[in-house]
Amino acid sequence: MAEEQKLLKVTIDNISIEVPQGTSILNAARKIGGEVAPPAMCYYSKLEGSGGKCRTCLVEVSAGSTADPRPIPKLVASCRTNVMDGMVVKNITSEKVIDARKGVVEFLLINHPLDCPVCDQAGECALQDLGYEHGSEGTRYEFKRRTFIREDIGPYIQLHMTRCILCYRCTYVADQLTNNRVHGILDRGDHSEISTYISKAIDNDFSGNMIDVCPVGALTDRTFRFKNRVWFLKPMDAHRDCDKCHGKVTLWNRGDEVFRVTSRKDEWGEVQTLEDGKPGWICNTCRFEKKNTSDWVIEGPTRISRHSVISQGHYVDTVVPNDPLEKVLQGRKPKLLLDIHDESEVNQLQVHLSEIPGPAVSNTFNGNPHASGHNVTDVKEDYKAPNPMGTDSTNPNV
Ligand code: SF4
Ligand code: FES
Repeated sequence: MAEEQKLLKVTIDNISIEVPQGTSILNAARKIGGEVAPPAMCYYSKLEGSGGKCRTCLVEVSAGSTADPRPIPKLVASCRTNVMDGMVVKNITSEKVIDARKGVVEFLLINHPLDCPVCDQAGECALQDLGYEHGSEGTRYEFKRRTFIREDIGPYIQLHMTRCILCYRCTYVADQLTNNRVHGILDRGDHSEISTYISKAIDNDFSGNMIDVCPVGALTDRTFRFKNRVWFLKPMDAHRDCDKCHGKVTLWNRGDEVFRVTSRKDEWGEVQTLEDGKPGWICNTCRFEKKNTSDWVIEGPTRISRHSVISQGHYVDTVVPNDPLEKVLQGRKPKLLLDIHDESEVNQLQVHLSEIPGPAVSNTFNGNPHASGHNVTDVKEDYKAPNPMGTDSTNPNV
């Protein structure tokens, strides 16, 4: 009979839990779940050896173990520190941790651009979430930041090194999932950068998984870049028969159009573990070459459990009203049936609402397209012309 596994008791943020020997504090905290689990920018449970680089997962150990209850004098990286029996850990209950995390975010943002409005990762970026939770409004950094030219590494992936936080996850993917790693971290210290060996392309069947593990927008899908914002897309679980991988993916659709294909993610933003216990990495054929809904068997809407902006458009369990239009059109796609300008008397081509100085009046649509009225505030303040401050919320023209 197999020897019974020894369980260790650990208390994290006043919640006690028993975990097998060899469990890290981070994984013990994930078992409790929610806010108690420290953020992790470099640790990735499916990548051996990951963790210990970013310091976002720091926690305070206020009692080392039952045998030696002295506190550990410095904060420790929870992804790299294993629990001991009787250990007491503070994460969100420790002011020191919150303060240190704020410092770590400030360091991470020293070189990371604040280009979320144009970054494809926005809405699903671990650093963006961390910045909102622990960042400060301003920076104290006065020196020149490091910047890099964008580089296409292979046909499907673009590297934007300026955004990289050097978490090493992508190099672990290349080491552990592909048979031929041609990229890595070159140079040291402030000069460190991810690059390929003498401009070699990253080109093998599983390289696309680097995009999924990158916690920021440094590695992006060239077939999806700038096509859409993730929160406008509807994630759907789908599968297909694939001879390279298990073929279970998330499709990111808008209507019938598949904008991108990714692996399925769990609540920690990592690829899901499949029924057979293996991580659900997907191949490049599924990810980049199957962009038609007809390539897939759709299972249903993805449940987004992460506290990301994508879950704001959460639509699972909503009842979609029956839409008879397709039947009406006998299977044909709806298309533009009429031009509103031909049909509506209000939308007249000669009327330019953005160009008239005040709000439109009935005359504007009855023979005098340049006629306009007065703003409410102009009347109240006795302005003879449109209010120069443009304070009238009823009129978008000022
Ligand atoms: S490119 Fe992304 S995954 Fe790779 S080290 Fe940089 S931040 Fe990490
Ligand atoms: S997640 Fe622990 S150091 Fe990065």
